[in-house]
Amino acid sequence: MNNDIKEVLYSEDELKDKIRQMGAKISNDYSGKELILIGILKGSVIFMSDLLKEITIPCKMDFMAVSSYGSSTQSSGVVRILKDLDFEIQGKDVLIVEDIIDSGVTLKYLMKYLRARKPNSLEIICLLNKPDRRKVDIDVKYLGFDVPDYFLVGFGMDYAEKYRNLPYVGILKDEIYK
Ligand code: IMP
Ligand code: MG
Repeated sequence: MNNDIKEVLYSEDELKDKIRQMGAKISNDYSGKELILIGILKGSVIFMSDLLKEITIPCKMDFMAVSSYGSSTQSSGVVRILKDLDFEIQGKDVLIVEDIIDSGVTLKYLMKYLRARKPNSLEIICLLNKPDRRKVDIDVKYLGFDVPDYFLVGFGMDYAEKYRNLPYVGILKDEIYK
């Protein structure tokens, strides 16, 4: 285990199992639809790529990049679009893929932004959720795990751009970010 990690919260196997279930459910729910998955860079990339492999119906992938966090661990509440979609989503069934929801500010903003482009449907799939930190209401269609209010890294999630490559979700040691 990485020396900066206090505890492994979800192992690679636990994550794979959960993602397999989510992929099966999506494949069933969206059968016959024009599904587009939109990954929010960069935290969602590992979740997104594992999830895509578990989806058995035709689908497209796209990415957006937004900024709401610097290298600090607190949400600024300000969301900026750094990279927009390559595809038109009008009339399509869109699933936003996120690593973790904290305040909910990022997704709230993105939902409003994307809804204006008139997709047929617009939903959220999120691997992890911190319910205790929520500031705005968000409906999440597919959720992996509710997690306690710790700063988590790995499986795509970073602290100051580090730890994204860890194959598990871990709790960062307090002394690293305090
Ligand atoms: P929100 O807008 O406050 O919900 O922030 C969501 C974004 O903050 C996520 O997509 C992550 O990129 C980042 N984030 C929130 N909590 C954590 C965490 O515990 N570890 C790493 N990134 C986090
Ligand atoms: Mg993110």
